[in-house]
Amino acid sequence: MYRTHTCGELRSTDLDKQVTLAGWVQTIRKFGSITFIDLRDRYGITQLLFNEQLNTILDANPLGREFVLQISGKVSERSSKNVNIPTGEIEVLVSDLKVLNRSAVPPFTIQDDTDGGDDLRMKYRFLDLRRNAVKKNIELRYAVNRAARNYLHLHNFIDIETPFLIKSTPEGARDFVVPSRMNPGEFYALPQSPQTFKQLLMVSGYDRYYQVVKCFRDEDLRADRQPEFTQIDCEMAFVEQEDILQMFEGMVKFIFKEVKGIDYSETVKRITWEESMWTYGNDKPDIRFDMKLGILKSISKPSETIIPEGAFKIFDDAELVVGIAAKACADYTRKQLDELTDWVKRPQIGMTGLIYCKYNADGTLKSSVDKFFDESKLKEWAIKTNAQPGDVIFILAGREERTLKAISSLRLYMGERLGLRKAEEFKLLWVTDFPLFEYDDENNRWVARHHPFTSPKPEQVQTMINNDPAISNANEYLQHPYASIKANAYDMVLNGNEIGGGSIRIFQRDLQEKMFAALGMSKQEAQHKFGFLLGAFEYGAPPHGGIAFGFDRLCAILGGSESIRDFIAFPKNNTGRDVMIDAPSTIDLKQLEELQIKIDLKAG
Ligand code: AMO
Repeated sequence: MYRTHTCGELRSTDLDKQVTLAGWVQTIRKFGSITFIDLRDRYGITQLLFNEQLNTILDANPLGREFVLQISGKVSERSSKNVNIPTGEIEVLVSDLKVLNRSAVPPFTIQDDTDGGDDLRMKYRFLDLRRNAVKKNIELRYAVNRAARNYLHLHNFIDIETPFLIKSTPEGARDFVVPSRMNPGEFYALPQSPQTFKQLLMVSGYDRYYQVVKCFRDEDLRADRQPEFTQIDCEMAFVEQEDILQMFEGMVKFIFKEVKGIDYSETVKRITWEESMWTYGNDKPDIRFDMKLGILKSISKPSETIIPEGAFKIFDDAELVVGIAAKACADYTRKQLDELTDWVKRPQIGMTGLIYCKYNADGTLKSSVDKFFDESKLKEWAIKTNAQPGDVIFILAGREERTLKAISSLRLYMGERLGLRKAEEFKLLWVTDFPLFEYDDENNRWVARHHPFTSPKPEQVQTMINNDPAISNANEYLQHPYASIKANAYDMVLNGNEIGGGSIRIFQRDLQEKMFAALGMSKQEAQHKFGFLLGAFEYGAPPHGGIAFGFDRLCAILGGSESIRDFIAFPKNNTGRDVMIDAPSTIDLKQLEELQIKIDLKAG
């Protein structure tokens, strides 16, 4: 037996027991004739005390950090107790020591506040995973996985695996492709999600499906995106949107309870996409704090008493004038306001400037555009933005899309600055009624906002069927009837992050064909790409719908982070590389020959 106990297990109730432990050397401290070693394993740390006799052995065979030891000895009471660790009342008086393996000097310290930079830790991820900070994320991930599975099992869902080598049918991102040796010149694609398979399972009668499954998307990476990530992917037959919302709101609450001990008893709020855009400036609002937008365009004409025939060009030329009230910021200094102005002028935000209006504690209003607006006008702004004495109203003006995006970023930034985005507070939200289509101005055509299998609202099916998708004037695409069609689609948002998305699906062949046509696909192309699904819809497809949760994201947020990398055992870096195994990499000429592939990299 390598060990009788783990390094996290022994307490003062175990005093005088003879024990054997195995683990890694965390630290070595020598004090004259005594040496203390902290021995670490997955479960914790136990202090070892080496007597003089053993110290002679240690002197002859020096130990280093991360050596793997097996020790035996007696559990004794510590003279100076450590209240910070569960084993802090005891130590093991070592009588026998075996070095199971040596270790090179680790490239960074295996501690919570390690001295290793990101790149180094990625290269030696197997060492990084030994750190408590990473380990607790991996454990949390397992807890979320287990809770989700338990909930779904309790509700009659069954886990069915779907293939990874499938046909290339881009869903929005690029596919990763895999060449087929047995079918030279042909490629499989790795699934961006099991979307069509889960729908086929509904046609097959497995009316409650789930899978915790890898998905692959070749897209630009961000903190919340990885090229391979995991979804909790679900589908149900004979359901309407309401059934799905209730079932999966239940799942997330169950996970909260199991993993964090949180009773999320309130009903999850719902907001339509339209309302979300005009209230928060984006479709995944963080509702842990208010700071709602005030649309000021209609009250942004300069005060006539000041410049009767004048104009304030910044507002007059703007498609949108919008403000937010930042709580208790009226005492911001010139420097702070200038910093914020620079912040909105950064290329990522792209605004030309920031206008502010201080609502002083004494009730007076003072703005950076006093030359154009008198106090009664400023009061109107304060009412629209729900500002109170002591607040500052920040105002942006410009093109609608960019300005909305910018004010939404500013809102989040201010929320962060003011400490309103607390990691331990969780606020869920359903965003519903997304537009069915988005206009792709590069290719002058409609694209599916969610995916092409999402159904339109029943009352708008005819609008889709009766109208030609062609867009004659690109500038007026908003006037096209398709722009107003809403989808039976919903996203779940947690603390400003989209953690899941799904829809009620089209299940009739003719409507699905119409959808493909609307997206600019010819009949042949639709048949070639999705013939299997269209065919299946002819054999008694039930009404169905589903959702997929971004498992990595959910774990990251529950763990108080927005970076999913920390919650994945072996993640890729931000250029999509696994720097530990050095992938992607070139392959042998022989492998290429077997695949009958010749590489001819085009310059640039
Ligand atoms: P969608 O594309 O919205 O829907 O994906 C579902 C959820 O997966 C997460 N996600 C990601 N997480 C990490 N890295 C990525 N690159 C990444 N991309 C997406 C998000 C997102 O909400 N088949 C549909 C679901 C359905 O209709 O049922 C789908 O995949 O949290």
